[in-house]
Amino acid sequence: MAESNTDTKSSNQMWGGRFASGPDAIMEEINASIGFDKKLFAQDIRGSIAHATMLAHQGIISSDDNDKIVHGLNTILAEIESGNFEFSRRLEDIHMNIEARLATLIGPAAGRLHTARSRNDQVALDFRLWVKEELEKTERMLTGLIAAFLDRAEEHAESVMPGFTHLQTAQPVTFGHHCMAYVEMFGRDRSRVRHAIEHMDESPIGAAALAGTGYPIDRHMTAKALGFREPTRNSIDTVSDRDFAIEFLAIAAIAGMHLSRLAEEIVIWSTPQFGFVRLSDAFSTGSSIMPQKKNPDAAELVRAKTGRINGSLIALLTIMKGLPLAYSKDMQEDKEQVFDAAESLELAIAAMTGMVRDMTVNTARMKAAAGSGYSTATDLADWLVREAGLPFRDAHHVTGRAVALAESKGCELADLPLSDLQAIHSAITDKVYDVLTVEASVASRKSFGGTAPSEVRRQIAFWRARN
Ligand code: ARG
Repeated sequence: MAESNTDTKSSNQMWGGRFASGPDAIMEEINASIGFDKKLFAQDIRGSIAHATMLAHQGIISSDDNDKIVHGLNTILAEIESGNFEFSRRLEDIHMNIEARLATLIGPAAGRLHTARSRNDQVALDFRLWVKEELEKTERMLTGLIAAFLDRAEEHAESVMPGFTHLQTAQPVTFGHHCMAYVEMFGRDRSRVRHAIEHMDESPIGAAALAGTGYPIDRHMTAKALGFREPTRNSIDTVSDRDFAIEFLAIAAIAGMHLSRLAEEIVIWSTPQFGFVRLSDAFSTGSSIMPQKKNPDAAELVRAKTGRINGSLIALLTIMKGLPLAYSKDMQEDKEQVFDAAESLELAIAAMTGMVRDMTVNTARMKAAAGSGYSTATDLADWLVREAGLPFRDAHHVTGRAVALAESKGCELADLPLSDLQAIHSAITDKVYDVLTVEASVASRKSFGGTAPSEVRRQIAFWRARN
């Protein structure tokens, strides 16, 4: 798509020395949004067709003019889609670029399209349609990511790994359970997306500049034609509102934070020190100097994209916070933030979905790590409560002494001879060894939402029915 530039006037006599080009050129440069809002061409044309059709239906324009307008707009759509449209910065934005082309194509009838609307409700409509489609796409992509996790969770419902708090070995869990934690997170993101679609499902067109219009328009008709539930209810709010864009960014920021935590775990898990997972070649890169290396670049970039998304959210909140009602040109700065965040979010979800599906899980390594670091200490304490009737606080103390002893001997709890354990507390019997294995530990945690394989399978079934 070509972009034409206007002639620059020579610098202004009085203060032009400060500028390389004339003031009009600078005005044009700061004012024009066509460089980025051309992304809205399909929405703009769809909106204009719905608006013109409604105008004709209401007898505000003739059906003859409407036919010309609709035909012309469809021609423009084809031109843009095939790369045969010349965007002009002099025409400022996508709305005026399309309208100017329409005038060339169909003549004076083009001038009737803008009856009973303003660029203020037009841009609110176009951008809303774009964000709504992006939310729908995000919803589908999150569903794909959740499906990837459900498959891995099913495969690893019994695979034990160390569970961490403070990144210190805490208690054994199953890898399936850990995967299901991400299903919960991305499931919440998806439900935020669904709520946002519901919030924004109102059509702005017909609010006009800010006060509505005297023409007998039918906003319910355009709302329906454009797939909205209903028209917005306050024309002033309609042209000053960008909540739908901010909500998209907020959702993207939260999902991005989740994706970044996952990326961070993958970075840690794929180190030779952990060795829990091995990334596929498709999602890692080599080093130009160190032949042994396999770097988790994609995960690192997902972690970094989160920074951009957060920046976009803060930028738009800041753009909006000082604006009096209704429209101000500041609001033109909304689009780049949303476009950039949408691109980052899509890439991040796609990359993590691929990585989760492709990575090789080293269950032997996970199991070995699960048993080290006295991860079944809580199981020993619980056994003392259950089998020997100790209050939990005392059991905790006894277990602490057992851990200290094992540590001094350089062995695991299960390696301590019974005599050593009995010296610490006489009620301990050889039955205790049954709970000191990691398998017994995870199998015992059957509480709702717990890590026992049976419980993990129950949660998988719950999500499968909803995905
Ligand atoms: N390009 C403008 C934007 O994105 C369109 C609306 C312009 N409205 C106006 N009153 N200047 O916000």
